[in-house]
Amino acid sequence: MTTNKGVFITFEGIDGSGKSTQTRLLADHLKSLGHEVILTREPGGSTGAEEIRALVLEGDPDRWSAETELLLFTAARRDHMERTILPAIKAGKIVICDRFADSTRMYQGLSRGDLRAKVDQLHDLMIGQEPDLTILIDMDPAVGLARAKGRQTAEERFEDFGQDLQDKMRAGFLELAKHYHDRFRLIDGGRSVDEVAQDISKAVMDHLS
Ligand code: ADP
Ligand code: TYD
Repeated sequence: MTTNKGVFITFEGIDGSGKSTQTRLLADHLKSLGHEVILTREPGGSTGAEEIRALVLEGDPDRWSAETELLLFTAARRDHMERTILPAIKAGKIVICDRFADSTRMYQGLSRGDLRAKVDQLHDLMIGQEPDLTILIDMDPAVGLARAKGRQTAEERFEDFGQDLQDKMRAGFLELAKHYHDRFRLIDGGRSVDEVAQDISKAVMDHLS
């Protein structure tokens, strides 16, 4: 991010951990302080990537092989980067993104066989961008899954992989946070919305200052 003026913040965590809720609150808070903020999400965040979103999030859990899925998520991310994220960063805005490449490192890299090396190679080849700051909302996978299931949407392909996947993802995200400790901030998501929001706000303000 050395050549850009803006700030790129991503949120990660298991399904139902509160990312969408907290990205919205953070965006509102930063806007109230006068920052220009773009709130976006993956998969999606641009017209083409939102079309790919429906392909990867709806339907049977075994609809795609792990490899095909990795290509689809990466294609969506490339479009999102070109059309939404990079222009906003270059214009000096704060980009808040609900999930990014760390989700691919976990969900495609770990969930079905060990594809992590391919995930990293494809990322280097086609994306090549890491966030400045990553907020990891950590919580009990059973609670996260119950919250996520409570939403009742058609986008349940990953939630339908069940609790084992959530357990694996939680452990994987905690490992990733240790590995990329410079940019990760770990937040305990098992508390009230306001308590979680306060911790996130503090971590982001520390980074901005
Ligand atoms: P994610 O985007 O990580 O899947 P959401 O923000 O969509 O998570 O939250 C999942 C569900 O849990 C939503 O119904 C939301 O209202 C609820 N929720 C979010 N944060 C909390 C919290 N701290 N305590 C209780 N419920 C929450
Ligand atoms: P999201 O809408 O953020 O789900 P949730 O709100 O339940 O956390 O993301 C949908 C699913 O997409 C989620 O289960 C994780 C998965 N996903 C991947 O498998 N790889 C990726 O690269 C991304 C961005 C998401």
